[in-house]
Amino acid sequence: MKITVLLENTSLKNSDLFVEHGLSLFIEKDGYNILFDTGGPQESAIKNSSKLGIDLSKVDAVVISHGHNDHTGGLLKFFQINDKAPVYIKKEALGSYYSKRPDGEKYIGTDNKIAEKYLERLHFAHKTLEIAQNIFIVPNIHKEFAVPYNNYVLFEKINGELVRDDFKHELFLVINNDNNLTVFSGCGHSGIKNIINTAKEVFPDKKISTVIGGLHLQAGASTFVVAEKEEIGEIAEWLVLEGIGDVYTGHCTGERGMDLMWPILKDKLKRIYTGMKITL
Ligand SMILES: [Fe+2]
Ligand SMILES: [Fe+2]
Repeated sequence: MKITVLLENTSLKNSDLFVEHGLSLFIEKDGYNILFDTGGPQESAIKNSSKLGIDLSKVDAVVISHGHNDHTGGLLKFFQINDKAPVYIKKEALGSYYSKRPDGEKYIGTDNKIAEKYLERLHFAHKTLEIAQNIFIVPNIHKEFAVPYNNYVLFEKINGELVRDDFKHELFLVINNDNNLTVFSGCGHSGIKNIINTAKEVFPDKKISTVIGGLHLQAGASTFVVAEKEEIGEIAEWLVLEGIGDVYTGHCTGERGMDLMWPILKDKLKRIYTGMKITL
């Protein structure tokens, strides 16, 4: 399996790739191509694809982790390039989502034009689904552990009122690679421990070798809310105890989150960046 990071918040020095706050991964598994999230509204992920030699017209399926526009921002542009790939998404991801910041509330939901113009491309996920051989989406995350502290700045607007976001709009992707599972989370708003535990429930006889995605230890594009040191350390220790092989992370994990996890995860922690290629 090959993974190319089309967009993460960072890139290598001297890189000519576009960077913005967001996440997008291009995954090739046994000849099947998946676009996991589409990056932010500046469409950097889409612009980067050609620079990285990736033809998005050959994407077989899109999987959208949740309804925030740093993950859905490239969808409209994608539809202009690719007229066949279904988009697996939770129906709730079309809701009205906001973050509260020191400078006021900001809409961070999916562009309404997606549902208006491309509804027939959206496949709403309700239950675990094998979208292609060994490639699964899991849309029901059991929340046994606490969710990230940072979620408290995130809201959904229902009947004109902002209510705490319960992240029913989040799903995750699992790929079975020779009996080793790789779990892909977008932002991990439901809590990476809950996501991994749910994956274990769904696939009780398989080992989770790799986790890729954001862990939401930092809020949004800014650093005004960050997870407590204890929360970060506890998550890192839990990942070690669970025997997770490698944790490829970046995006909303934040630099501080990665710095604090490093002494615990050590070389299991892999920092992702725009343009990174991973072979598993
Ligand atoms: Fe995000
Ligand atoms: Fe998010």
